[in-house]
Amino acid sequence: MSNNKHLIAPSILAADFANLSSDIKMVNDSEADWFHIDIMDGVFVPNISFGFPVMQAIAKHAVKPLDVHLMIVDPDRYLKVCKDSGAANITVHYEACPHLHRTLSAIKELGCRAGVALNPHTPVQLLKDVIQDIDLVCIMSVNPGFGGQKFIQNTYTKIKELRQLAAGVNDNLIIEVDGGVTLDNAAQLVKAGADALVAGSFVFSALSPINTIKELKMVDYPPQMA
Ligand code: DX5
Ligand code: ZN
Repeated sequence: MSNNKHLIAPSILAADFANLSSDIKMVNDSEADWFHIDIMDGVFVPNISFGFPVMQAIAKHAVKPLDVHLMIVDPDRYLKVCKDSGAANITVHYEACPHLHRTLSAIKELGCRAGVALNPHTPVQLLKDVIQDIDLVCIMSVNPGFGGQKFIQNTYTKIKELRQLAAGVNDNLIIEVDGGVTLDNAAQLVKAGADALVAGSFVFSALSPINTIKELKMVDYPPQMA
């Protein structure tokens, strides 16, 4: 994907849950590309966010694809309901899938993009034997479970290693980075090879979230000549 402009996926986890429709409208009106939807079960990660009924409500208002990040054990049980709740992309965690190849096939059979998320301690090389079967890899740049955490610097190295791993085998692979993304690291992430940036607290705590999305979308490396 590296010749295209990078994608921006605001994370609804940081939205105002009591005013979801206005935050969804803001993302609809913005330059964002996807809605990032974080589903947590309190088992795989030490937090519970929201589930499929809330996602269905979001889907009714969203005019952009839903990029769903399942931070749950045994995600196979929920793939169908996830698709039926409006998912375009379904990302499962490597660490939660003993039969990852089967899980990826099931996601594709539903007609969704198949994604794999890697915790910060999980090396990208573990994807070597399935790299051709993956549409999207989500490199976690924080430990999953909470918004507003500090970005882990080793992420840049992982992006480059993943691009090398996919070279010639899966050149359309979308590399997504999730956690602690701000304007301080966005340009360097794109330079390293990120195709999609997830941003939660940085967008929704901004004075003007719609402008912040635009700024994240405009970062570029090398800067475009005027
Ligand atoms: C963390 C989630 C992230 C989170 C990012 O477990 O997967 O998507 O919403 O939030 P920020 O951008 O605040 O780190
Ligand atoms: Zn996420």
